[in-house]
Parts: sequence; C-alpha cells; structure tokens
Amino acid sequence: MSIVSRLLTPPGEPVESLRIVPMRRRHVRSILAIEERLYPKPWTAGVFNSEIDLVRRGERHYVVGMLGSELVAYGGLMFAAGEAHVTNIAVAPELQRRGYARRLLLRLVNVAVDRGSTALTLEVRVSNTAAQAMYRQFGFAPAGVRQRYYENTEDALVMWAHDIDSPEYRARLDTIAKGAP
Ligand SMILES: CC(C)(COP(=O)(O)OP(=O)(O)OC[C@H]1O[C@@H](n2cnc3c(N)ncnc32)[C@H](O)[C@@H]1OP(=O)(O)O)[C@@H](O)C(=O)NCCC(=O)NCCS
Repeated sequence: MSIVSRLLTPPGEPVESLRIVPMRRRHVRSILAIEERLYPKPWTAGVFNSEIDLVRRGERHYVVGMLGSELVAYGGLMFAAGEAHVTNIAVAPELQRRGYARRLLLRLVNVAVDRGSTALTLEVRVSNTAAQAMYRQFGFAPAGVRQRYYENTEDALVMWAHDIDSPEYRARLDTIAKGAP
C-alpha cells in the first residue's frame, strides 16, 4: 500500500496490519525522525542506542512497528524487580488513531507478563489525555504526580497497573486483542 493510500484512509480505520519487530540500531534514524516531531525534548540517538544495548542484558525490551518497509511506531519497557516500566510509546503523527499504539502496547504488556512482571508503571504528561485514555484501557490508574517532571515545567502523572499476572488481567488483554487491528 502506498503512503498516499495510507494517508487517505480516515482516522479510526486501520489501513493495514502493523508488523512488530525488535528495535535495532539500524532503526534509530527513522525513530528520531518521528521522535523529533512529537516531543519538545526528543531522546537522542545516543539514548536509543544505549537502551538497545540494555536489551541484550535483559534490562529492556524495545519494539518498532512497520508498515511495509516504513517504520511508523516504536515503544519500550524497562524491567526492575517484578515491575515493567513503559519508557516510551509513539506513533507517527499522520498515522495516529488507527489502533497502532494499542497494538504495540499489547505486545509490550504481553512481554512483561511473560517475563514475570506483576505490575506495570509509567509517567505521562498531565496534559496528555490521549495517552492516558489508552493506558486506562490497559488497566493503568493514576497513583500520584511528579511535579515539574518534564522540562522542569509540566507535571507527570504516575500510573500503575497491578496484578498483570492474574486471570482477570489476561481477560482484559484478550478483549483488547480482539479489537486490535
Ligand atoms: C499516545 C499515542 C502513542 C497514541 O497512538 P495512537 O496510535 O494514535 O493510539 P491508538 O489509535 O492505538 O488509540 C488507542 C487509544 O488511545 C486513546 N487515544 C489515542 N489518541 C487519542 C486522542 N487523540 N484523543 C483521545 N484519545 C486518544 C483512545 O482511548 C484510543 O482508543 P479508541 O480508539 O478505542 O478510542 C500517540 O498519540 C502519540 O504518539 N503521541 C505522542 C507521543 C506520546 O505522547 N506518547 C506517550 C508518552 S507517555
């Protein structure tokens, strides 16, 4: 499918199935092109490369979402003491609202469960109600605020999802998976 066909597909409709693969150093250039459009203080190539290095040590897990040969989404986890921390998740602006972030997060959460994590956590800008709505679908609830966490200006909402190893949480993931493109 061409980029034009993708852009002509209305938001809300999946254009094609996302292929999710492990993040590699060769992906970083494409990731930065998206990162720089999304964030006032984007991660640098050095940050992504060192995160990818930590995957080999079992301390991180990073994936990218591909449409054909085009990298359109990415996200990752940090593991610590029974918990998995969602470090980032992002979708190219013109391809948002098609369920791709939900697909990526579903994959990351399943990895966390498989790795024995019992809880998930993350920080999100208090103004980022779009991301917060997605996290709520995955059972994340607000647990506190880190003041001036971003650029020493905006507060972060700290969210947690507990008991991700329970049958109830598995049922939630199965429901999300049925609706995911
Ligand atoms: C947050 C983000 C990753 C969502 O990506 P996406 O592919 O558009 O999300 P999806 O289409 O998979 O939507 C999943 C859910 O997120 C919520 N959501 C996503 N975009 C939304 C928006 N603009 N407004 C309200 N809710 C939104 C909805 O609950 C949606 O479920 P629904 O379609 O059933 O209503 C994307 O907006 C993004 O890259 N933002 C910039 C980076 C960022 O803020 N990342 C999060 C850092 S903590």
